[in-house]
Amino acid sequence: MLFHIVVLYLLDSVSAKSPHIIYILADDLGWNDVGFHGAGDIRTPNIDALAYTGLILNHHYVTPLCSPSRSALMTGKYPIHTGMQHGVVKGAEPWGLSLDEKLLPEYLRDLGYRRHIVGKWHLGHFESKYTPLCRGFESHLGFWTGHHNYFDHTAEELPYWGVDMRRGMDTAWDLHGKYSTDVFSQEAVKVIERHDDTEPLFLYLAHGATHSSNPYDLLPVPDETIEKFPNVQHYKRRKFAAMLSKVDDSVGAVVQALHKKKMLNDSVIIFSSDNGGPAAGFNGNAASNYPLRGVKATPWEGGVRSSALIWSPRLSNPGRIFTQKMHIVDWLPTLLTLAGANKSSIPASLDGLDMWQSMNTNESPPPRVILHNIDVLAKYGAITMDNWKLINGTDYASYGSWYGPSAWDTPYIINEVIDSSAGRAVTSLGCQLTSTEITELRENSKIECGERNPSLPDCRPLKAPCLFDIHQDPCELNNLANQNAEVLERMMRELIHLNSTAVPARNRKVDPRGNPALWNHTWHNFGDYTGKARGSDFQGDFICHSA
Ligand SMILES: *[C@@H]1O[C@H](CO)[C@@H](O)[C@H](O)[C@H]1NC(C)=O
Ligand SMILES: *[C@@H]1O[C@H](CO)[C@@H](O)[C@H](O)[C@H]1NC(C)=O
Ligand SMILES: *[C@@H]1O[C@H](CO)[C@@H](O)[C@H](O)[C@H]1NC(C)=O
Ligand SMILES: *[C@@H]1O[C@H](CO)[C@@H](O)[C@H](O)[C@H]1NC(C)=O
Ligand SMILES: *[C@@H]1O[C@H](CO)[C@@H](O)[C@H](O)[C@H]1NC(C)=O
Repeated sequence: MLFHIVVLYLLDSVSAKSPHIIYILADDLGWNDVGFHGAGDIRTPNIDALAYTGLILNHHYVTPLCSPSRSALMTGKYPIHTGMQHGVVKGAEPWGLSLDEKLLPEYLRDLGYRRHIVGKWHLGHFESKYTPLCRGFESHLGFWTGHHNYFDHTAEELPYWGVDMRRGMDTAWDLHGKYSTDVFSQEAVKVIERHDDTEPLFLYLAHGATHSSNPYDLLPVPDETIEKFPNVQHYKRRKFAAMLSKVDDSVGAVVQALHKKKMLNDSVIIFSSDNGGPAAGFNGNAASNYPLRGVKATPWEGGVRSSALIWSPRLSNPGRIFTQKMHIVDWLPTLLTLAGANKSSIPASLDGLDMWQSMNTNESPPPRVILHNIDVLAKYGAITMDNWKLINGTDYASYGSWYGPSAWDTPYIINEVIDSSAGRAVTSLGCQLTSTEITELRENSKIECGERNPSLPDCRPLKAPCLFDIHQDPCELNNLANQNAEVLERMMRELIHLNSTAVPARNRKVDPRGNPALWNHTWHNFGDYTGKARGSDFQGDFICHSA
């Protein structure tokens, strides 16, 4: 009895303090672009070290695209419930995530957190009130659009082209020529170094990598980084590996900075991709979702099942694979719980579930439908219920195949993981990172596809809905729609029901006033001005935090 009281007291004192939350979002990283899933051609030792000593989130779903996934992370709501379900926010389009939504940093502000974003926003900027400093963040070094060139920091979003690198609301001309991923990594480290660690920190590090850049230089990366990957034969894949290694270095630098500042022990670190990888030349890129089907922007598993992990000393029994399905909308309620939010302060109207207990016990969360997305304009919808996945329609008639490389047969350098910055930091806190455990976890996170049954009809989602048993058949080889009419009907009803809860997509057509040529060649908050160009009257109704 006495023992119990003591234990409870200790647990209480540990959990009483709100943890630092570090959310690292990679852009366009595929399922098979991390070493812990088997990719041996590229190297992600720091990311892997966190995965093996935290939880590998092996059924972590996101939406197929950047802006929708980021809106889901920030609101805890499916994009159909915020109007973010169609496409992405383009640089000269006058729209963004609704100002009526309360965002994650705003909730965390109420809980006493300091809040910083480094990197990509992509939730609207045509008026300054849509940008991060007006939406709960205290500082931002990064960019507003969906991608930019990693050296010159310009973004081509047809028909326009302009610079997109901001320090707060100002264009960071001084950073011209500096590699974006390094710039963001250094800024993240600075945020940690400057942080007063008596207060909890929320750092949202949203890398632009490994998104492709502008057509004149699709995969920019320093030559000396490319030279580290002589074994990757395919030239684009070699560049991709080099771009990704910069993200991995950044993860190492962030973990090391937290360790040096003695904050690591009180931290929760999440690493995930925003959507599946653009493989096989999609967006001019060379990601791999192998052996999952499809790519970014499609409802196949390769578009929505993302590489992800959570690391924290607060996890019970870490060094596991978490096998429950979860969705990016779940992070908001999960993180608020961890941050110590009063349950009644988390709106019941969210789509996300608090997964913290499930992560610690591996119990199933309550049964639910996971919505991958419904986009009536792009003509597709997809959901998962229990072991069943329904795909109705698709936005790309092509790109529904399986794209490599697998690279499982490429040697995996375990010592590099153990010796990485992140590896050394977490082992010094007492985490176990041994060759045996690494090998076992890596084997167990591997996806086994099963056999294709040639007597089943091909899935042609534009002709008829398809049904997959996603537990038996994670690679979507066998369309069971004809075999399971009842399940198909139940799921179509569910899809129709979800569709009936959707709000209209918020997208607006390109506004010529957004042309960067009118604003000193920068992507700008053109809606804040009465006139058509620089020099016209500023009408922004308030100035938010300045950096
Ligand atoms: C939680 O919120 C409810 C309703 O807002 C309030 O009555 C209650 O006192 C709060 N509890 C704590 C521990 O803050
Ligand atoms: C299924 O997809 C087709 C074509 O893409 C579309 O016309 C139909 O409305 C969709 N059905 C549902 C329930 O969403
Ligand atoms: C980490 O925190 C736990 C409990 O809060 C404590 O027991 C442990 O000594 C800490 N470790 C380090 C390295 O500070
Ligand atoms: C889905 O909802 C839209 C309105 O948001 C409606 O136009 C469309 O007919 C619905 N589709 C189905 C299949 O119910
Ligand atoms: C316009 O752009 C140039 C760089 O091309 C920069 O040096 C200058 O400061 C900018 N002017 C204003 C007013 O922002």
